[in-house]
Amino acid sequence: MRRSLVAGNWKMHGRSSNAARLAAGVRDGLPAECGAEVVLCPPFPHLPVAADRLEGGRVRLGAQDVCEREDGAHTGEVSAEMLVDAGCAFVIVGHSERRSLYGETDDVVARKYLRARQAGLTPILCLGESLGEREAGSTRRVVERQLTAVAEHCGEEAFRSGVVAYEPVWAIGTGRTATPEQAQDVHAFIRSLLSARWGELASGVRILYGGSVKAGNAERLFSMPDVDGGLIGGASLDADEFIRICALSG
Ligand code: PGA
Repeated sequence: MRRSLVAGNWKMHGRSSNAARLAAGVRDGLPAECGAEVVLCPPFPHLPVAADRLEGGRVRLGAQDVCEREDGAHTGEVSAEMLVDAGCAFVIVGHSERRSLYGETDDVVARKYLRARQAGLTPILCLGESLGEREAGSTRRVVERQLTAVAEHCGEEAFRSGVVAYEPVWAIGTGRTATPEQAQDVHAFIRSLLSARWGELASGVRILYGGSVKAGNAERLFSMPDVDGGLIGGASLDADEFIRICALSG
C-alpha cells in the first residue's frame, strides 16, 4: 500500500514573513488523522524560516530545484548537499516551468534527479505534455521520452520508492484540471513503463497528479487507483485550502 503524498510548490511567491506564517499554519492545522506525507517547497531564501517552523513536526521540507553538479564554481546555483544542510528531504526536478522557461533538457533533468538521490534527497520528478502535444495525440510519447531519459541515466535503485508527478502543462495554473479519468490513464501508463522495466518496483513508486488541484476537485482525483497524491501550486499558498487537500488524500 502506497502512502499518499501531497507537496506544496510555492513557486516564486511571498516574503519570509509569509513563508513563516504559511509553514506554521500548515504545521498547526494538519489534522492528526491525516495519513498523507506532506511536503512544503518554498523558494530557496525562505527555506531556513520554513525549516524553523516545521522543525520536530510531521510536515517535511523540500526545494523547487537543484543543481546537477557538485559544490564548486557555479554562480547562482544551489547544490543537493546545501539543500540537505538546509533541512530538505525532497526536491522537485524537471518542473515544466524549468523545462520551458529555463531550457532544462531531459538530460539535465536526469542529472538533477541522480544528484538529488546521491545526496539523500527524494526527487519529485515532473513529467507532462503541452496542450499542443495532447491535441496531437502525443501525450504517451512525450511522457515516455521524459521518463525514459531519467530511468536510463539513473537506473533502478534511483527509482526505488521514487516519486513521479504527472503535470499536464495545459492544466498548470490555468484552472483547467485533467479529469480524474485522464489523470488515471497517464498514471497507469507511467506505472506500466516502470513495471516493464523493473517489475515489482513500480508498485512502490508514488505518482502524484499536479495541475489546478483544489480542495473542490482533489477528492475525485485522489480516488483514482494510480493517483497517489498531488503536487499543488496555487492552492498551496493558502494554508486552509492546502490542509483540506491533504486531508482528502488519505
Ligand atoms: P497549480 O500548479 O496547482 O497552480 O496548477 C501546479 C504545479 O505547477 O506544480
